[in-house]
Amino acid sequence: MSGTAHTPHTNRTKDPKIHATMVDMSRFTLDAAARDALFLAARSTLNFSDEPVSMDTVRDVWDLIKWGPTAFNTVPLRLAAITSQEGRARVTQHAAAGNQAKVESAPLVLVAARDDRFHDHHALTGGSPDLAAKLEANPESRIRTAHTNAMLQIGYLIVGLRGAGLAVRPVGGFDRDALDADLFDDSTWRSELILLVGHPADDHGAGDRKGRITTDIAIKEF
Ligand SMILES: Cc1cc2nc3c(=O)[nH]c(=O)nc-3n(C[C@H](O)[C@H](O)[C@H](O)COP(=O)(O)O)c2cc1C
Repeated sequence: MSGTAHTPHTNRTKDPKIHATMVDMSRFTLDAAARDALFLAARSTLNFSDEPVSMDTVRDVWDLIKWGPTAFNTVPLRLAAITSQEGRARVTQHAAAGNQAKVESAPLVLVAARDDRFHDHHALTGGSPDLAAKLEANPESRIRTAHTNAMLQIGYLIVGLRGAGLAVRPVGGFDRDALDADLFDDSTWRSELILLVGHPADDHGAGDRKGRITTDIAIKEF
């Protein structure tokens, strides 16, 4: 964490596109290194180093990001960590053609899934039996809640993994029904996104960074 001696308008990222959009960085409680690691220098990496990703790190990141907010404290995100060659082959075959080599070569593959029966854990998450019964009776709303909040948690997870020095390539191009039938046949988990995770190589391999929309477009005051 930084103290009071901030330097406005500076960051450690050399990308001119990012530099041009920088505003007063003295507003942030995270220091420049943290801002770079989480957002400014972090890329959707395709090239990873050979260093394996420890499952202990993944568990520690989970234990941190689980505190991010979800509706009714539902916490529906689940992770299928693909640590065997056989598991990787099963995931790879359901990836879109353009994503198969990426899935094959990433140090760790995480299938981020939602649990459509998240309400079974209401005793742990402080939900009432009444709410659980309502959710049980309304699968459509329950699955929508699971999807929305799992996606929210995936955002926290990506930032958390970056905070642990890891790089992430999210991959949405895969056959969800086929992957679910393969991995989650006997389960209430349903895949949302594949995350390719590893320690970044010197060249991230993600090409030039694309721009982002401006605050003028993104933020309106009402
Ligand atoms: C929901 C989602 C789905 C994505 N799907 C794919 C994909 O199927 N294949 C791929 O190579 N990259 C995929 N990406 C990566 C995006 O293209 C990338 O995050 C975006 O261009 C920003 O890149 P940057 O973080 O390097 O700036 C996906 C990202 C997200 C968040």
